[in-house]
Parts: sequence; C-alpha cells; structure tokens
Amino acid sequence: MTDNSRPAVLELIGNTPLVRVSRFDTGPCTLFLKLESQNPGGSIKDRIGLAMIDTAERDGRLRPGGTIVEATAGNTGLGLALVGRAKGYRVVLVVPDKMSTEKVLHLKAMGAEVHITRSDVGKGHPEYYQDVAARLAAEIPDAFFADQFNNPANPLAHECSTAPEIWAQTQHDVDAIVVGVGSAGTLTGLTRFFKRVQPDLEMVLADPVGSVMAEYSRGGTLPTPGSWAVEGIGEDFIPSIADLSSVRHAYSISDEESFDHARQLLRAEGILGGSSTGTLLAAALRYCREQTQPKRVVSFVCDTGTRYLSKVYNDQWMNDQGLLQRKHYGDLRDLIARRFEDGRVISVGPDDTLLTAFQRMRLADVSQLPVLVKGQQLVGVIDESDILLGVHEDVAHFRRAVSSAMTDKLQTLSPDATLAELEAELGRGLVAIIQDASGFHGLITRTDMLNHLRRSLP
Ligand SMILES: Cc1ncc(COP(=O)(O)O)c(C=O)c1O
Repeated sequence: MTDNSRPAVLELIGNTPLVRVSRFDTGPCTLFLKLESQNPGGSIKDRIGLAMIDTAERDGRLRPGGTIVEATAGNTGLGLALVGRAKGYRVVLVVPDKMSTEKVLHLKAMGAEVHITRSDVGKGHPEYYQDVAARLAAEIPDAFFADQFNNPANPLAHECSTAPEIWAQTQHDVDAIVVGVGSAGTLTGLTRFFKRVQPDLEMVLADPVGSVMAEYSRGGTLPTPGSWAVEGIGEDFIPSIADLSSVRHAYSISDEESFDHARQLLRAEGILGGSSTGTLLAAALRYCREQTQPKRVVSFVCDTGTRYLSKVYNDQWMNDQGLLQRKHYGDLRDLIARRFEDGRVISVGPDDTLLTAFQRMRLADVSQLPVLVKGQQLVGVIDESDILLGVHEDVAHFRRAVSSAMTDKLQTLSPDATLAELEAELGRGLVAIIQDASGFHGLITRTDMLNHLRRSLP
C-alpha cells in the first residue's frame, strides 16, 4: 500500500466486449450491447474518471496533495475514486439522494467522502448536486472540480476510446447507436468520431420519461422536467457539451418499461445491467423493430446490475414503487406490501425464539412480524418494542419463545374497511392486521400507507 505508482488494474479500463442480443425480437436488425459493466469500476464512467484526472494532472489543475471534487450519480464518482485514490488524492463527491445504497457504500469503501444532497431540486437550487459540488470545489484549497458536465476531457475520452472500439468491433459496419444522456459525454464523443468515419450513422436517444432531452432533440423546445427513477441518464437541462446533431430518433421510456427490460435482459441473456440498461434496451428494441431494412445497431450496458440488487432486482422495492404488475383487488389488500396470498409474508412461529424474530426483522428490514402457527393461522404480532421489553432485564431471554412476548389481543380490519378506518388504526401507533373469514391477508404499516399515497402522486 506504499507504492503510489499507477495500479495495474487501470490498464483494464476500456476494450470492453461487444455481445450480440440473441434472445429478443430485433426485427430485421442485429443488435449488439457493449458491456461497459466489465470495466474495473463497473461502469462506462471509468473511462472519463481516468481521462479527466490524467488531463488535469497534465494541465497542472491537479497537483500532489490535491482534492478531486465532483457531482455524480455515483458511477463517475466510482471512476474518479478508483483512479484518484490510487494516485493518492482526496476525493469528495456530491451524490443525489435517489442513488442506490450499493453505489454509496462502494464509494465510501473506496475511501471517497460522500455528501448526499436532494434529488428533487433542479439546477439553480442551492441544494442541487452540481451547485453543491461547485461550492465545495471553491471552498476546498487545491481542489480540482472534475465537472464532467462541462469538461472537454469527458467527450474526448469517448471519442478516443469508446467510439474507435465500436468501429473496430463491428468491422467498420454499424448503422445506428442507441445512447442515453447524462452529461452527454458519450453522445458527443461518439458523434464526433462517427461524423468523420461514417457520417450516415444514426444516433438514437434513449431517454427516461420526465427528462427534457428527447423532446428537446425532436423539436428544440425545452419542456418542464419531471422525475424518474432510472439512474445515470436523463436530464432537466441541456448539458453544455451535448452535440445532438446526429440524433435522428428519440424514445421516451417509462421507469416501468426500463426496469422490466433490465430484468428481462438478465433472464433471457444472462446479462446483469443497471437500470439505464433497461432504458437503452427498450429504446433499441423499439428502433430495431421499426426498421424495414436490416441494420446493425449498437447499444450499451452502461453499468453493472450488482449495484441495483436492492432496487431493480428486489421485488419488494419494485412493489413499493408500484413498478411490478400484481393482482389488484380494489380494497385494502392493495396496500399490503407483503401479501399472504402472494407467499410474501415474513413471519415467525410462536415457538421460535425472540432472537430468531429479531434476526428475521433485521434481514427483511421490518419492525414487526405476524406470528403464524404452521405458517398459516395468525395468533399474534411481535414488534421491536415487544422484543426489547422481553430481553432488557436479561439478554438470556433472547432464547425465550416468541409467544412469551408477542401481542395476542389482536384488532383486525377486514379488506373492505375504509381508508379512514385504516388511518385511525395507524394513528393509534398500531400496525393494521388485515384479516377476514377467509384468513390472514397481511399487515399494513405506516410505511405501506405512505408508499400507497406516494404511488398516487400525479
Ligand atoms: C448509468 C449511466 N451513466 C452514464 C451514461 C452516459 O452518460 P453520459 O451522457 O454522461 O456520457 C449512461 C448512458 O446510457 C448510463 O447508463
């Protein structure tokens, strides 16, 4: 750990594989995906992390002992942390709060300092992530603001590495490239390279619904931005480095369609991509199926899906967001996050120990569990305060049975009770137990109620 020379792993950035999509209907076209997830930091942004740091060192904007500051959805931060920490720099990153926990944990594990800021405010707001980063860069002595949104080294990295790799890997035979826009570095770099070698190549935008890029690229007007859950692509303004001159088509893809396509890609092709991969794949498939002539099309797996295991690949989170199709009853059963009839209830038995109950709560990240006999019949509910009361005098009581500490005088609500009755139950600090003559259906917590209300936001 004392050698400050460039670590050998940096040689593995770029030269990522190109794989043909073989299990989807691509119409008359052949679709390839470039697996940027195979970069050592797990995303396409390793390329620009390396390029921006090398360039800043050469220009004298980054000197030994300096600090690298950036506003990032996580991946650029990982690229900068990979290269920057290896070279002995302090790395300070400002990350919007919608980004996945895995990315934030990964950044911290690499030794980066992470400032979380609001993702629900736009450019110009003092808590907007890019404005926070600019402020920090001005305050910290010897700071280099990587500023991927305005840094020419960003598109240049794609012009000099991503684009020529695609050109070589397709044997100089490619008709269209489907990209998302975050900072627009990828789009601009590819556009510049292909204008020289293949001016007819069509750039196709894959944009989350809510982002302004697609509509702007079609008509030049700037719509009011919305919000989207896909990470890394979509913008609420037009990045200064964006070159839209080769964009011939633009598709707006909903979060639901994006996440569904990411999941399908894993199941059908065994490729584990991030949420934006779903957006790109959905747009690429639409483009391919609309063609009347065979075309060779390239898109990207921009980052690895391992950093979205708690989101895109987690049924519970998908359910909470209203992004999974499930049976709709038109009653309180629709508010239950873990429905008995779907086999998703996490429970304990009355003879299990309090330790088992506590560990099960931690594993599932819940604060209470229904107590079911033989996994069927409801006899009680146990929550964290019941366990605390049971063990606070003697930790050996963790080995006592759940039945000794659970609440067994249960107030239940039938699925056809009203929302007002549910709110009254939750208002008394209780979890609502939904049960009728047909049996136990599940619990509704305040979090479930909040998720329900949020899902109905227009
Ligand atoms: C996760 C992710 N980050 C970044 C990008 C591209 O970003 P940029 O426009 O900053 O080059 C993409 C493009 O699809 C992406 O999926």
